[in-house]
Amino acid sequence: MSRRTGRGRLAIVGLGPGGAPWRTPAADALVTEATDVVGYTTYLDILGPPAAGQVRHPSDNRAEGRRAAHALDLAAEGRSVAVVSSGDPGVFAMAAAVMEQLDRPDRPAAWEDVDVVVSPGVSAAQAAAARAGAPLGHDFATISLSDNLKPWSVVESRLAAAAAADFVLALYNPASRHRHSQLGRALAVIGAHRGPDTPVVVARDVGRAGEQVDVVPLAGMDAVAVDMRTILIVGSSQTRMVDVPGWDRRGVYTPRRYPDVPADA
Ligand SMILES: C[S@@+](CC[C@H](N)C(=O)[O-])C[C@H]1O[C@@H](n2cnc3c(N)ncnc32)[C@H](O)[C@@H]1O
Repeated sequence: MSRRTGRGRLAIVGLGPGGAPWRTPAADALVTEATDVVGYTTYLDILGPPAAGQVRHPSDNRAEGRRAAHALDLAAEGRSVAVVSSGDPGVFAMAAAVMEQLDRPDRPAAWEDVDVVVSPGVSAAQAAAARAGAPLGHDFATISLSDNLKPWSVVESRLAAAAAADFVLALYNPASRHRHSQLGRALAVIGAHRGPDTPVVVARDVGRAGEQVDVVPLAGMDAVAVDMRTILIVGSSQTRMVDVPGWDRRGVYTPRRYPDVPADA
C-alpha cells in the first residue's frame, strides 16, 4: 500500500504466536520502521528493545478500544505507528478494535489523515496445529470461550451448532484468572456430539519459551490445566492419531476426505 507524503500511518501488525522465527518479514519491517509502537506490555516485551528513537506505548490487555483510539491519534499527528497483536491481528485482536473506532459516528476528523494497513500473522490455531500434525486438515470452526464481549448463551449455541456439524473446533481464550467455569461447560456441550476418545490438542505458549503441547482424549480433559496462554483443538468425528517418523509423541490429523467419498471423486 502506498503512503501519501505528510500523512500518518497506522500499521496493525500480527506478531505471530511467539518469537521472531514465526513472524513475517513484513511485520518485522513495519515494527522496525515505526516511530511509535502501541500494544499490550507482554507483546512489546516479546519485541525486545525498541529501535533507536522509537517510542513504546505499553497498555493493559483489556483496554483495546482506548489503545486503538490512542494509536489513531498518534498516527493523525503524522507519526508512523504500529499497533501490535499476538498471532493474527484480525483474529480476536486489534484489527477489529481499530475498525470499531473507525466506525464510530463521532470519529475525529483528524483520523482522515491516517493511512491504515493490516499485516497478517500466524494465528495460535495454526501454530498449535503445526505442532500436532494436521488437525485442521478439514473444515474447522474458531470460537472464543470468553464471555467478556459476548453473552455465554451465544458461545454455547455456537459450540453446539459447530459440534453438531462435525467441525474441528479451535477454542481460543479457554480460561483466564477470572474465568474458570467456561471450559467445563463448553466441554459438556461438545461431549454431547463427540466420542470420549476424540483427540484434543492442548497447546500452551506455542512458539515461546516453555511451550507445552499435549494430546489428550476428550474424556481426559478434566485433569488438564488450561489458562489464558493455552489454545485447544478438539477433533471432529474423523480426527485420528498417526505415528510420525522422528516425533516423540503421536501426531493428530483430520483427513481431507470423508470415508464414504470414493477416492476418485
Ligand atoms: C485475545 S486471543 C488473541 C489471538 C491472536 N490474535 C491469534 O491470532 O492467535 C488470545 C488467545 O489466543 C491463544 N493464544 C495466543 N497465543 C498463543 C500461544 N502462543 N500459545 C497458545 N495459545 C495462544 C490463547 O487461547 C489466548 O487466550
